[in-house]
Amino acid sequence: MSFDNVWLNANLATMGDDALGLIEDGAIASKNGRIAWVGPRTGLPAHAAPVTDCGGAWILPGLVDCHTHLVFGGNRAAEFEQRLGGATYEEIARAGGGILSTMRATRAASEAQLVQAALPRLDALLREGVTTVEVKSGYGLEPETELRQLRAARALGAQRPVSIVTSLLAAHAVPPEYKGRQGEYARHVAEDIIPRAAAEHLADAVDAFFDSIGFTAEETALVFAAAQRHGLPVKLHADQLTDCGGAALAAAHGALSADHLERSNSAGIAAMARTGTVAVLLPGATLILRETHFPPIAAMREHGCRMALSTDMNPGSSPALSLLLMLNLGCTLFRMTVPEALLGVTRHAAAALGLGDRGVLAEGLRCDLALYRIQRPAELCYWLGGNPCIGRVVAGIAA
Ligand code: NIG
Ligand code: FE
Repeated sequence: MSFDNVWLNANLATMGDDALGLIEDGAIASKNGRIAWVGPRTGLPAHAAPVTDCGGAWILPGLVDCHTHLVFGGNRAAEFEQRLGGATYEEIARAGGGILSTMRATRAASEAQLVQAALPRLDALLREGVTTVEVKSGYGLEPETELRQLRAARALGAQRPVSIVTSLLAAHAVPPEYKGRQGEYARHVAEDIIPRAAAEHLADAVDAFFDSIGFTAEETALVFAAAQRHGLPVKLHADQLTDCGGAALAAAHGALSADHLERSNSAGIAAMARTGTVAVLLPGATLILRETHFPPIAAMREHGCRMALSTDMNPGSSPALSLLLMLNLGCTLFRMTVPEALLGVTRHAAAALGLGDRGVLAEGLRCDLALYRIQRPAELCYWLGGNPCIGRVVAGIAA
């Protein structure tokens, strides 16, 4: 058979079934950036391709971080200190800090400055075996800066071996220019910002923040209708601070994912399961905000709603630079099982982005791999810190 590269002497967690799809002493072969063969080494067809001996390492599909706000100016360590002193996230937001303080720093930054600030954060994720990262805008809250954030995100993908998927999150907060006119700002997002981002092919999806300090169901519907007119799938920040029916709203709009869901009710989760909307769980935000409400994992299991896990990397509620740490928190805080957590950063995370070409080690899919020096997959969830990643392969090329 004609292959470009072959990886041998590895144990595989293919993620092809709900028990991790384990293959001991497996082999993977690539051709033109895709997986051309995967299975037990003894079945590998004869070939003349260069071989990498993995020395008994474990191989998983390259990890997918499906919810980040990686591109932003400044940081909010000072607000972290305020919260340690007793202020709440909502109080700080209502007093003009929070998302608006990052908005000011982001508006003041050039595209090059945004890229330079984001690169070390991206590199931290890549070192752990991440090969696909979703990046949201949402700190410009006016067209120029929103598009600049998305351009910076695209530039990151050109500077590093990684797939970057972008989401326009202009409906993240109301900017000062529209203070007291939230509905008008939502219309501005729908009528001006989304069409511009779509015309420049800068957004792969549209996201919105639906919550007590976010947008209403009607405003969200306006924004999502504009996304759909431009052929863009939608996602929703839902039920983080209050149960306002965000899970059901996301399902009603056929969203790819609904994210956070700390306070979602089980009817909403059932609706998400019916529409195939993925639940993206963000334990970094739960930890940092010292949330006492956890996402309704039992309802997700009962209704068969797919769960993903992500860093929510952002300067306010989740300054998390480690997806492996989220695996641990998903298990420790939310009581996810090891297979649930690992599916949450591979197959189900890819589904949360609408990407059917990755997240599983299977023939025909992208050859994005993460190699780990571990004895069993549970170690990826078990260690609290540390990094057993010893290699990454992106589209068939060692990265
Ligand atoms: O996903 N909740 C809204 N958006 C972000 C937080 C953004 C910020 O605080 O800067 C989130 O948690
Ligand atoms: Fe977020």
